[in-house]
Amino acid sequence: MAYFNQEMDDHIVNRICQLLNQTLGFGYGAQKKYLIISRLGKRLKELKIDNYQAYLKILESSPAELNRFYDLITTNVTSFFREADHFVILQQELLSGILDRHPHDRKITCWSAGCSSGEEAYTLAIVLSEALSPGWEIRILASDVSIQKLQEGMNGIYHIEKLRGLSGILIKKYFQKISEEPLRFQIRPELRQKVVFRRINLNEELQIPSYIRFDMIFCRNVFIYLTNESRVKITDGFYSHLREGGFLFMGHSEALNSFNDPRWLAYKGCIYQKIP
Ligand SMILES: C[S@@+](CC[C@H](N)C(=O)[O-])C[C@H]1O[C@@H](n2cnc3c(N)ncnc32)[C@H](O)[C@@H]1O
Repeated sequence: MAYFNQEMDDHIVNRICQLLNQTLGFGYGAQKKYLIISRLGKRLKELKIDNYQAYLKILESSPAELNRFYDLITTNVTSFFREADHFVILQQELLSGILDRHPHDRKITCWSAGCSSGEEAYTLAIVLSEALSPGWEIRILASDVSIQKLQEGMNGIYHIEKLRGLSGILIKKYFQKISEEPLRFQIRPELRQKVVFRRINLNEELQIPSYIRFDMIFCRNVFIYLTNESRVKITDGFYSHLREGGFLFMGHSEALNSFNDPRWLAYKGCIYQKIP
């Protein structure tokens, strides 16, 4: 097809936004028109369709296309040791108290919710591996709605450019080189096995067994896309899945009004503690 009409009228923009808002809890509206066009234009060409009305029809009838849509429309920027002060605070101020709550089981359980391609979860695995004495078990759930990003996380393969936040010592200890051109490294299997990747849409009923209680939940740079209503619902889910005294780490720009909620104690730097 020689000509692709990638313009769309506001009616279609609104329907695409509605779909996104209903399923993922986003707060997108007509102001996102050009973001949507720039992210989906290539997909329309792949599908050999020339208008967004036809694309919407496919989206509404095909769960596989809906998943591809999530891959394309979500913003997945992340890095190792992103917002690094959180990991310093965890190690220097919070960790000993967290470990004290495990006098018998010596098992620490964490969740990186909205993990993108896994850098946050692996950073956590590295920090805990460095800090804990042998005999401690580290279990990390890493979840996202983008299947493509989860696959990248599971593979644990990163271009050298992505390892900028890491010292040479940590790279040597936790990564192995797998190719020269391009220069890429893979997380070593001992570290990879501490992280389990699962598809979880935070805006749906959480499919996590109720007996699982996390010591800490990282949900950073996800709430910025969501409506206040979704944030409140998701925060309630986090509350019920945290241990008493457990910590919720939010992104640095994500301090929320709902944290006037007396069930949460604001620690510092957008870290919140569950008060029983
Ligand atoms: C900007 S990345 C943040 C990655 C990492 N937490 C960090 O701070 O570096 C946001 C991630 O949230 C995911 N996300 C957005 N809405 C979601 C939802 N409703 N359920 C699960 N994941 C979602 C996106 O797919 C994306 O990978």
